[in-house]
Amino acid sequence: MNLALPRFNISLPSLGRLTRPGPAGGGPLALGLDIGSHAVKACELQRTRKGYQLLTMGSALMPPDAIEDGALVDPDAVGKVLTPLLANLKSKNRNVAISVSGYSVIVKKINLPKMTAEEVEKHLIEEAEQYIPFDIDDVYLDFQDLETSQEGDDHSEIMMVAAKKDLVNGYIELLDDLDLQPVVVDVDAFALENAYDAAANQPENVALVDIGAGKMNINLISGGYSALTRDVMLGGRDLTSQLQQSLGISFEEAEALKIGMAPPESEDIQQKAADVVLNTCRNWSEEITRAIAFYLTTNEDQPISRIVLSGGGSRLSGLDDYLGRQCDVPCSVFNPFATVEYNKKKIDPAYVQAIAPEMGQAFGLATRSGEL
Ligand SMILES: Nc1ncnc2c1ncn2[C@@H]1O[C@H](COP(=O)(O)OP(=O)(O)OP(=O)(O)O)[C@@H](O)[C@H]1O
Ligand SMILES: [Mg+2]
Repeated sequence: MNLALPRFNISLPSLGRLTRPGPAGGGPLALGLDIGSHAVKACELQRTRKGYQLLTMGSALMPPDAIEDGALVDPDAVGKVLTPLLANLKSKNRNVAISVSGYSVIVKKINLPKMTAEEVEKHLIEEAEQYIPFDIDDVYLDFQDLETSQEGDDHSEIMMVAAKKDLVNGYIELLDDLDLQPVVVDVDAFALENAYDAAANQPENVALVDIGAGKMNINLISGGYSALTRDVMLGGRDLTSQLQQSLGISFEEAEALKIGMAPPESEDIQQKAADVVLNTCRNWSEEITRAIAFYLTTNEDQPISRIVLSGGGSRLSGLDDYLGRQCDVPCSVFNPFATVEYNKKKIDPAYVQAIAPEMGQAFGLATRSGEL
């Protein structure tokens, strides 16, 4: 199976300039920074002969409303979170890989007659209106030939990514202000895909499902490639808001109840909370079932054998079992560090275990080359 997964750099700053991932065994890697709307996660890895060694990692909570729909709304507030986090990591690595998502990021798989990279680029620019709902001058554009064509096939599949320049530039300016050098701008879903590729012993056709605070991303991987990726605006924050409304408590109280830090005060509250949680989990399972069913209409012979859950939302107790039953596909929580070595005197294994489900994206970004 070809595992050359797409590893995008939305070309910075000129069109079509790609920095490829670091070759196995050589060159420094980027510091992976997943700037989420609930928390920023950082991870630094080093290649070893067997895989990866974890050098350092950490996370810090983001103030509310600093990031909305993937866009930086309050860069100063984000900077104030990043500065102490990076200081705590004690890493000298200033070359970072970040990723973006949201309405300003378009990901499309296009079937085109076989052509050179220059011809693909020219085609995408000339035919941009067909593919991108924004002005071509307002986006960074990048693509990768997935090289899926078989012998005798004169077409090839191209994965195209377009991201609004103002969205990407906002992040670049923030990093610049912090003396960090962005070497990779990836797409959230692809960063996680790279993490799965790096960590899975036996890659299968899987549904990667990341449940963050603001969104759930479903990415169906088939034959080593993303066959369908979809963002659903139904994340953990939504669940907290519904608990808040249903129980008439503050957002903070609802959050504490949800993550198990504050036990329900009565059986009645426990029952009400359980109903709200079940309702949200049902919505999540319906979205996953729908995506898999849609995928199967054209990939009948390539069934999805597992749901791999990640993101803070995946820490909801029993969610993996529930989704496995509802979607009728085995479900497990992703641990990007399962086969990774690290110095247990410096990094607490209990911390690694606890934080693993939400570190997937940062891990994937940390596998990228740190060289420009
Ligand atoms: N133990 C837990 N049980 C349930 N939910 C949890 C738990 N721990 C964290 N969460 C939820 O996970 C969400 C945060 O997850 P994550 O850090 O993956 O989000 P993010 O990457 O910052 O968000 P996004 O990707 O949407 O921008 C929050 O809504 C938080 O309430
Ligand atoms: Mg996230």
